[in-house]
Amino acid sequence: TGYITIDEGFKNTGSTTSGITYLDGEEGILHYRGYPIEELAEKAEFLEVAYLLIYGELPTKEQYEVFKHEVTTRSLVNEDMRKIFDGFPVNAHPMGVMSSLVGAMSSFYPDNDKKHKGDFTEVHIRRLLAKIPTIATWCYKKSQGHPINYPKNHLDYCSNFLHMMFALPVENYEVDPIVSSALNKLLILHADHEQNCSTSTVRLVGSSKANIYASISAGISALWGPLHGGANQEVIEMLEAIKEDGGDVAKYIAMAKDKNSTFRLMGFGHRVYKNFDPRAKIIKKAADDVLAKLGVNDPVLEIAKGLEEAALKDEYFVSRKLYPNVDFYSGIIYRALGIPTNMFTVMFAIGRLPGWIAQWLELRKSGQAIGRPRQIYTGPTKKHYVDIDQR
Ligand code: CMC
Repeated sequence: TGYITIDEGFKNTGSTTSGITYLDGEEGILHYRGYPIEELAEKAEFLEVAYLLIYGELPTKEQYEVFKHEVTTRSLVNEDMRKIFDGFPVNAHPMGVMSSLVGAMSSFYPDNDKKHKGDFTEVHIRRLLAKIPTIATWCYKKSQGHPINYPKNHLDYCSNFLHMMFALPVENYEVDPIVSSALNKLLILHADHEQNCSTSTVRLVGSSKANIYASISAGISALWGPLHGGANQEVIEMLEAIKEDGGDVAKYIAMAKDKNSTFRLMGFGHRVYKNFDPRAKIIKKAADDVLAKLGVNDPVLEIAKGLEEAALKDEYFVSRKLYPNVDFYSGIIYRALGIPTNMFTVMFAIGRLPGWIAQWLELRKSGQAIGRPRQIYTGPTKKHYVDIDQR
């Protein structure tokens, strides 16, 4: 009841108060629980940042050791989940598989699990952090026709992921520290971003008191879209298309500006950042560093730089304050690390997971009412039923 205002796309509507992530779009500032993203990306480990987001403060050494142990020792996924997984077609998109299997986890780990005394949520949080990377690597292994790798508990979070992705039973696999540290940085940069589409989805689903697996499964689905996390896959596909097409950057800039075309420059623009995306700044530098260290010469990096340079000089992009976002250069790094294009959005999901968990917990603890937006009705006024043979 009362006066309803419409704010399509929630461009100017706050849905909650939150103490997790601070974002200033004009100044390009991003803090997790008060800590600048630049410092965390440079110095922290991903699980340390996960702890920070979820519990509000950086862990002490003892707290961190316990937390890491509790996550690491849950990385095996119930073998019966494999049966569900085996039913997916070989070319299934990993985001669809991920969203389904995370939803399925609610049936494997229901709240009446009497084995774990105390706070069940704590156990579920650790399970999600532990098992989602394992499931992601199943998708890759299946696409290759290779056997899956079971997790190795002596490895750190990123190295274990790389081991499960790339180790083959026929040869020794050593995790390259350059690769695992680049992955660590990317995951940290994606870890939270206040009330974006997928996080708002997690909170909205959670507000109905749906369980954490169901809420996060919904968040994964929201992230999949090309205007959100799916953009990182689209960026590389766009850069490759430009390369195949002879590298004519100007042609694609013109297409992006053409209002009769549906083409957008993927990886450009952001709802909140209007001067630059601080994550993109770090990732651009990291892309240069990682490619140089790994000795990779990727022609799409040059295309990306050419595209950025041309767009930043163009009145259309300048006047609309469209800058490269986090997804513009991240795919180039993922490629250099050997991660296939259709897994990029899954990498984003692994990174965003602690943010979703932290936001879900904050919502639940706040006791906020169920999310239930209103509308302004624009359909027909009252009509009367007409028998079918008289229509
Ligand atoms: N290429 C060409 N034009 C664009 C682009 C783009 N990438 N982004 C925005 N515009 C134009 C848009 O057409 C509109 O022009 P006009 O005022 O003439 O109608 C103006 O800029 C404002 O755009 P909007 O769509 O109203 O802005 P929004 O805040 O609703 O959308 C966005 C933000 C990120 C969805 C959009 O910029 C976009 O589609 N970008 C490409 C997809 C992308 O890179 N998404 C990843 C976002 S960052 C990570 C994440 O959230 O997952």
